[in-house]
Amino acid sequence: MDPFRLILSNNLEHFEGINTELERALSSRVGLIEDIGSHSLLGHGKRLRPLLFVLSCQLCGYEGEDSYLLSTIFELIHTASLLHDDVLDNADVRRKKPSANHLWGNQAAVLEGDFLCLKSSSIALGTNNLTFLKRVIEATTQMTEGQIMELTYTHNWNTSPDEYMEIITYKTAVLLSVACACGAILSGAGPEVEDSLSRFGLNLGIAFQLIDDLLDYTSSQEEFGKPVGKDLREGKITLPLIYTVKGLQRSERERLENLFRNGHAGQEDYDDLIALVISKGGIEKIRNRAKSYVDKAALSLNFFPDSAPKKNLLELNQYIIERTY
Ligand code: FPP
Ligand code: MG
Repeated sequence: MDPFRLILSNNLEHFEGINTELERALSSRVGLIEDIGSHSLLGHGKRLRPLLFVLSCQLCGYEGEDSYLLSTIFELIHTASLLHDDVLDNADVRRKKPSANHLWGNQAAVLEGDFLCLKSSSIALGTNNLTFLKRVIEATTQMTEGQIMELTYTHNWNTSPDEYMEIITYKTAVLLSVACACGAILSGAGPEVEDSLSRFGLNLGIAFQLIDDLLDYTSSQEEFGKPVGKDLREGKITLPLIYTVKGLQRSERERLENLFRNGHAGQEDYDDLIALVISKGGIEKIRNRAKSYVDKAALSLNFFPDSAPKKNLLELNQYIIERTY
């Protein structure tokens, strides 16, 4: 069974609440904003970040009525970042569909990203909670730092595992972390609770990106919803390639580096390098590394007594390493 089905069936009410609020958040006097927003945001997506927020609120005993509305903050930021990311990457496909930049052009896609990002800030402002707002804005800023860091390491075959880990922590994991931490903040929980949830989200988020980068080599476009080998084509040096490069003779490594860096590589070269990464890229090692982050995340929930939201958070955490798309 598709592991996501379990998550969906155990959180149906939350998915409905989140989707209703997302639809509302898209409303604009400008039709094109709604069209691009619906295409990019509605009817698909795993809603991982809003779900983490809603479950964290429940875990902390939040009794207010705003958890679905506020959960959209994290999906709006995420979708805005993907709109910008697809422009940066010149990507044609996102979530099994043509990307927004492909359909409407770069300018409209960037502006839509701006709209969604700012919409998330006005929703966050509605909490009148400066700590909440500060965490959201800090996370968004850090995502940009991660993305810029990634840009500076493009085609850099000397990227170390530590540098790679720093990039994925900032560009991906901090948003998942803050979605969890904000559940604690909104509920008025103390710093220890906030810290436990923050660490839970951070470790889960690191595992999420490790698996994302693994699937980029090992999955198929039909399953993954975006082209396989996309990172390599974009000059992104992710952990599977970093491990592969480490095991190569210097001359072979320099030959490959030049071939791919200078844009001289043809389809066959890409296929060969993907095959090499699959055979030598420590795929199992990376899966185990992701698993260790998932285990670390689970440990930070030890702090909480058993409850339904805790069980759902742990299932979501487990799903991260079982997912195939
Ligand atoms: C997708 O990763 C992209 C991110 C995780 C972060 C993108 C962040 C920004 C563009 C900066 C922040 C901007 C805003 C508007 C908040 P990926 O490229 O590894 O995944 P992919 O293969 O799905 O493209
Ligand atoms: Mg990308």
